[in-house]
Amino acid sequence: MPDASAALRVVIMASGNGSNAENIVRHARLYPDKIDICAIVCDKPQAFVVQRAASLGVPCLVLPFTGDKTAHENAINDRLRAYDAQMILLAGYMRILSPAFVARWKGRIVNIHPSLLPAFPGRDAYRDAFEAGVALSGVTLHYVDEGVDTGPVIAQCAFPRLACDTLETFRARGMEIEYTIYRDFIDTLAGKEKEHGRRSVGH
Ligand code: GRF
Repeated sequence: MPDASAALRVVIMASGNGSNAENIVRHARLYPDKIDICAIVCDKPQAFVVQRAASLGVPCLVLPFTGDKTAHENAINDRLRAYDAQMILLAGYMRILSPAFVARWKGRIVNIHPSLLPAFPGRDAYRDAFEAGVALSGVTLHYVDEGVDTGPVIAQCAFPRLACDTLETFRARGMEIEYTIYRDFIDTLAGKEKEHGRRSVGH
């Protein structure tokens, strides 16, 4: 029998569509004794990730932003403590976490960003990279520090901008890489290093 009590307790934070969140939940379920996705925290009541969480049977804590960042983050922190969370995976969470929140969770918050950081930090990196006409873009998985998209890199994967690309096809190709990188990270958290991995993740 899997020993779920020894599993790493992980909370996902998301604000939008939630395709990364769903990918993480589904992949983590391969390791029920190693990884427990306790909850998804969402700051947007109308976000599709709320419906995804319900379909997946994962508790979703909807904590709308009320204009006071400290109060909002304290409310999130209280819930994370109630879940005894050990790690936070950001999956399209569109609020910048305060230095105080980051310090509290130092080294235990991971974010997926859709560019080859340090190029194109910020909210819409696919658009920014596409409109800049780059030949190559990519995806970065990184630990979160006090800066915006500046923390230590865990994994990066590049992909080309094709001549026939529209912003939509460019973004769709990147999203598939986001899912792969997060799945690889979950494998690493579960202690299952890929024998012939294309990239190394997790330090
Ligand atoms: C992803 O591209 C993520 O990298 C970015 O926001 C998007 C979220 O997509 N930060 P989804 O909500 O996971 O579908």
